[in-house]
Amino acid sequence: MESQPGPRVLSGIMPTGSLHLGNYLGAIVHWVDLQHRYPSFFCVVDLHAITTPQKPTELHEKTREVAGLLLAAGIDPSVATIFVQSHVPAHAELAWMLDCIASMGRLERMTQFKEKAGREREAASVGLFAYPVLQSADILLYSGRPPRPVLVPVGADQRQHLELARDLAARFNHRFGVVFGEPEPVISEAGARIMGLQNPTKKMSKSGKNPYDTIRLLDSPDDVRRKIARAVTGPGREVRFDETQPGLYNLLTIYQLLSGESRSDIESHFQGKGYADLKRELAELIIARLRPLQERYQEIRRDRAALEGVLAEGCQRARVEADVVLQAAKSAMGLG
Ligand code: TYM
Repeated sequence: MESQPGPRVLSGIMPTGSLHLGNYLGAIVHWVDLQHRYPSFFCVVDLHAITTPQKPTELHEKTREVAGLLLAAGIDPSVATIFVQSHVPAHAELAWMLDCIASMGRLERMTQFKEKAGREREAASVGLFAYPVLQSADILLYSGRPPRPVLVPVGADQRQHLELARDLAARFNHRFGVVFGEPEPVISEAGARIMGLQNPTKKMSKSGKNPYDTIRLLDSPDDVRRKIARAVTGPGREVRFDETQPGLYNLLTIYQLLSGESRSDIESHFQGKGYADLKRELAELIIARLRPLQERYQEIRRDRAALEGVLAEGCQRARVEADVVLQAAKSAMGLG
């Protein structure tokens, strides 16, 4: 792996809440595709999860659930490296070093911190505030030696965090000599922002309170049918990609991504039909995509030792990669 030229791929996902269609269409499907083209690293970011309070036993279990779902969705551990962030100490170590070159002012402008901390800003953890710096460390550790660009497939909500990672890499390289490659966001045009089914002006989210807003990857067929049937569409009757109708537009986007058909083909398919037809067909499309994923997931979860084995091997491979870059960063900074 070390000798392969060209970019690397790194991305992460938090083991909080339940993985949903937004995570799948915005990020995971791209991971599955990119793993065959570049050396790829995917981490379950449990150190990010603890920036808000977590129950230890649940966190441990969720971490395995998310890892299992990534494997079920098509991440292939014989091709890509899948690991748990806290198993690779270099992440926390580089995060501290980058904390010392990141400015407070810059972090204060991070919209995700403002949203998550909300009115409880004073009570929010220091970890929540510094979260984007840890994310930068996650990415930059997989630059390789010599440094290469790191492609980061994510949804649109991560754009600002990736700008920070680019700036921190540039700042570090400028001050201490070139250690890190440049992070490059990979954000698809469609699917980068799957919206809530009940509130289509807000993204579908793991932490949402309304269960009808989100299609979870582990939802039963009946849940999917019920949720899609209840989804907000807005006024009108025609099934068209109309951005002024966010609910309808979101359902059609999901349909487009799952069917692989063009927008014009989809519009002609639904000509003369109504929203109820769209919802019925969309629900079946989602169920058909989730069924094999859920079956694989159940199989994976039955063999606990095998899953632990995959994570242990991923940890070994990730440590080797990350340590080389961490040592280079430490010696550039005069540490160690
Ligand atoms: P997280 O766990 O919130 O989400 C995981 C991935 O899913 C994408 N996503 C969405 N895409 C489309 N529509 C949605 N409604 C939607 N909701 C979530 C996210 O953009 C993300 O790609 N900070 C990151 C985790 C992280 C990370 C990293 C990512 C930690 N270190 C390093 C990339 C590189 C997060 O909270 O993702």
